[in-house]
Amino acid sequence: MRIESHPILTFRRGREIQFTFDGIPIKAFDGETIAAALHATGIRVLSKSLRRHRPRGFFCAIGKCSSCLMEVNGVPNIKSCMVMARDGMVVKSQTGWGKLPASTSTTQFIRKDFPLYQTEIAIIGGGPAGLSAAIYAAKLGAKVMIFDENAVIGGQLIKQTHMFFGSRDHYAKIRGIDISNKLIEQLQGLDVQIFTDTSVIGYFHPHTLAIIHQGRLKQVRARKVIVATGAAENMLAFENNDLPGVYGAGAVQTLMNVYGILPGETILMVGAGNIGVIVSYQLLQAGAKVAAVIEALPSIGAYQVHASKIARTGVPILTSHTIQAAIGNDRVEAARIVRIDRNWKEIPGSERELAVDTICLSVGLNPTSEILSQAGCEMRYIAPLGGNVALHDENLETSVPGLYVAGDVSGIEEASSAMLEGRLCGIGAVEKLTGTTEEIRRLKADVIKGLQELRSGPFGEKTRTGEHQLAKEWHKR
Ligand code: FES
Repeated sequence: MRIESHPILTFRRGREIQFTFDGIPIKAFDGETIAAALHATGIRVLSKSLRRHRPRGFFCAIGKCSSCLMEVNGVPNIKSCMVMARDGMVVKSQTGWGKLPASTSTTQFIRKDFPLYQTEIAIIGGGPAGLSAAIYAAKLGAKVMIFDENAVIGGQLIKQTHMFFGSRDHYAKIRGIDISNKLIEQLQGLDVQIFTDTSVIGYFHPHTLAIIHQGRLKQVRARKVIVATGAAENMLAFENNDLPGVYGAGAVQTLMNVYGILPGETILMVGAGNIGVIVSYQLLQAGAKVAAVIEALPSIGAYQVHASKIARTGVPILTSHTIQAAIGNDRVEAARIVRIDRNWKEIPGSERELAVDTICLSVGLNPTSEILSQAGCEMRYIAPLGGNVALHDENLETSVPGLYVAGDVSGIEEASSAMLEGRLCGIGAVEKLTGTTEEIRRLKADVIKGLQELRSGPFGEKTRTGEHQLAKEWHKR
């Protein structure tokens, strides 16, 4: 269902278009992805699993999980959450992995005659970290290119309607959606070229990227590369967790705040960290009902200010609870939850069913670090940072010289820290190209001070622990 009125957002829909899904005409608007348009029409099953033909819907809605693969205009395995609906498109559901056309070969890349782009600094990811890196590097005189697989830049900021905390320099009291616009404004007049709808599919030494841009394989040669690929939503193990209607919290935000489409009518939120309670509140603002927020820990993890907002609406926040099963045939019709004891054991007899059509998982994120592994960076699993991260020095330069990391890919944190890390990478990369100047020294000192401030206090403890572990591993090498 499309949202018609919203207290914060105005949805300006594009021209009305039509495509077919398994032969059925579907109405959509320019600027909506295929998956979003299908969801708005009430279609949640996009494909079937290979062996058991279980129904599959989307999960992440940002191109990171592959649960939304469909055949589009005869081409299989298209991520329908990333591709915009077009007038006259022929979309079909598929079973498992679709067969690629016989002419497709992956042995071709990277050939010398592929179209070539050259730049001083290539940035993978146009979210808060990537944009901040670009601004700082370009202001210091570098030629920069940003590659992002989305249709627009801004990363996850473009769906964040809550206001940020921190100081003025950290965009305190400004909504994520407005911060995104402010960062984009700062790019004006700088030597920054932006490639949207562009996937970086490989890294080759030295600093050569294989990209797919406008449907063609191309190469990019850079002197320094900054990876700011962000993070992906964690899944949770429970019965029927693959049922369409089980969505990551980020997917729910994308659907609701970017496309103006309600994910469902009645929602169970799993996880009472910041994202869980913020998205719950946004669901209420958009007109959905939140049946409950459940949290496995004995206490709520979110900032008090966010948790209180939810509590005031009367939505129950049930701590020491987890989800046992999603119930339904080809879509979520209910959820079974259960209380757990201090040892995380389910308490028999405490199970109950909630009639919901959507289960939203907000159980943490993990760094999207595959390209760093592929590039040969030394990786470690560091739990407080969210998973596999590349070891790096204090300038965020990895074990591959000239390859930097910034934002959630270097460890899960808030967007405010991602922006500061981006700045640090941008400055650090230019410093390596041009040498240290007084300006660079001053800018770096400011950013490092800002990061220390953000990570101080009880909410920064996890990050401090993770960063400490990472530094130890870095120095052990
Ligand atoms: S890749 Fe489309 S839903 Fe995750």
